[in-house]
Amino acid sequence: MSANRKLKLGVLASGGGTNLQSIIDQCQQQKIDAEIVLVLCNNPAAGALQRAENADIPSLCINHRDFHDRQSFDQKVVAALQEAGVELVVLAGFMRIISEVFVDAFPQRIINIHPALLPAFPGLHVQKKALEYGARFAGCTVHFVDTGVDTGPIIMQAVVPVLDDDTVETLSARILQQEHQIYPKAIQLIAEERVSIVGRRVHINSAAAPETALINPPL
Ligand code: GAR
Repeated sequence: MSANRKLKLGVLASGGGTNLQSIIDQCQQQKIDAEIVLVLCNNPAAGALQRAENADIPSLCINHRDFHDRQSFDQKVVAALQEAGVELVVLAGFMRIISEVFVDAFPQRIINIHPALLPAFPGLHVQKKALEYGARFAGCTVHFVDTGVDTGPIIMQAVVPVLDDDTVETLSARILQQEHQIYPKAIQLIAEERVSIVGRRVHINSAAAPETALINPPL
């Protein structure tokens, strides 16, 4: 992405929105070359709506309960994202499964954060599942979204230990801290156009250095 150009993000959330907040903060501090052009929630009570308002970011609530099926809800969401000029869809605690209608509208341009080390523990209540299983390590995963549930190519992961006296709450909080670190980082890599998908694997290309290339052109 060229110097002053900012990647246009649409952030989708269903709940409190702490991941949204970390992205807002990093955009404001210009640590990522992106701007949030729309915050979209499916839940009218989502704290994320208030966070958007506080940051003067356009927001919209499309309540999934007003729709008969997943496809018609997704069509409405896609239309709103396209209308806002969204280039990258960022699912940040968006507790809805995405249908093909949605995935096809933004090919390789939808990312999600999941509070487990995929492919272990996809789905819901995954911090509880990691604890109950007796995993020694847990963490979070940023991945591209495909039509499966938490199955898309993995961009970035962070690992945290599971401690003997952990509860679901303490483990979730430790994981969430890492989510706030890696999600903005992954967005920045995409903004820098350094991310490519090769089969199931995501390649992170090293930072381009055009100035060096100019100073030392190949002989
Ligand atoms: C986060 O832990 C996120 O990883 C999880 O919901 C939480 C949202 O927190 N997402 C999922 O479980 C998606 N399946 P937040 O609203 O404070 O960002």
